[in-house]
Amino acid sequence: MTEAIETVQVELGERRYPIAIGRDLLNDNRLLASHITARQILVISNETVAPLYLKPLLAGFQDRDLAVVNLPDGEQEKKLESLLPVFDELLVRGFGRDCQIIALGGGVIGDIAGFAAATYQRGVAFIQVPTTLLAMVDSSVGGKTGVNHPRGKNMIGAFHQPRAVIADLAVLDTLPDRELRAGMAEVVKYALLGDPAFLEWLETHLDDVMARRSDAIGTVIQRSCRNKAAIVAADERESGQRALLNLGHSFGHAIEAAAGYGTWLHGEAIGAGLCMAADLSRRLGWISPAEQARAEDLIRRVGLPLRPPADIGPQRFREFMARDKKNRDGTLRLVLMQGIGNAVVTDGYTEAALTETLEAYTGG
Ligand code: NAD
Ligand code: GLY
Repeated sequence: MTEAIETVQVELGERRYPIAIGRDLLNDNRLLASHITARQILVISNETVAPLYLKPLLAGFQDRDLAVVNLPDGEQEKKLESLLPVFDELLVRGFGRDCQIIALGGGVIGDIAGFAAATYQRGVAFIQVPTTLLAMVDSSVGGKTGVNHPRGKNMIGAFHQPRAVIADLAVLDTLPDRELRAGMAEVVKYALLGDPAFLEWLETHLDDVMARRSDAIGTVIQRSCRNKAAIVAADERESGQRALLNLGHSFGHAIEAAAGYGTWLHGEAIGAGLCMAADLSRRLGWISPAEQARAEDLIRRVGLPLRPPADIGPQRFREFMARDKKNRDGTLRLVLMQGIGNAVVTDGYTEAALTETLEAYTGG
């Protein structure tokens, strides 16, 4: 039986949409049918997720014109070339602007499918069915879609909001532990950037979350989605506060690109990136050594790396960070903490402190 925990709304006026969070939602035909309304439906998934969850998702839609594209698995597949089989299928099947695309998978599939939906015939409707913790708490919400370029993470993309997000907690039962830990990086991010009460909650309940207790996982997803929905509603196109969601990401994206996409999971890179952001904040005197230790301790307890791979030197970091989308007029802007649970987007750090952090975390 479906046990809906909660619906979080992303308030974007006439483009507002719900994030449905609950267990066994993929078996709930009425919920799916209320969002999947088109005659022509393309599901984009991958070779790992489709065998597990495609059948239940499509069970109630056999009377529709259904197409499926299953991409190879992995972050290295989040590239422009992966769009071609998707557009081929849409065109060969004669799908029009009133079709719907469904993303069934983690953040990689969600970002690719969202970008396909943003660009096919200049934009068609899409629905996110996230299947990783990371995708449920972050990537399926907010309408950032796109692919990587070898020279930079998420460099090609578009804003395109989904019509709905359906987060079925039951699918997390098959998620590997390493992926669960990676998803927790984004959860810790919300706590550190603007939700000190959530930080305390996580410190108290982390063992329950990592043991996958449904009530604890449900709380983590709800709370994260509420945080993200509020920021996206206030600043959909990232002209201001949405950049706060990038805490740890300037460092993390550099790690992913420099290490080679897929070598480190996105969440692992963000774990180390959060530690580097905390270190720089402490060097600037913006958080205390005790606050830095508190942030690091939580990331350590989740089981994420605290440092980047040893072979990425300060120069490589700077090369990739120079292409970050937050930069303005050639100046690197970073998201740092001014007090734990209070992030700012700033160019008010000193070059000397940034160099110290990069050298401390790369062995100089
Ligand atoms: P992912 O999509 O690669 O999924 C992780 C792995 O888990 C994959 O091997 C996948 O096949 C497998 N998997 C997925 N669901 C499963 C399940 N239920 N059971 C078993 N295996 C399952 O990685 P991710 O961590 O979900 O997403 C990372 C991506 O998200 C990165 O590309 C990152 O840049 C992007 N991202 C985007 C946004 C955004 O706002 N658009 C935000 C954060 C991250
Ligand atoms: N994950 C960053 C954002 O959605 O803005």
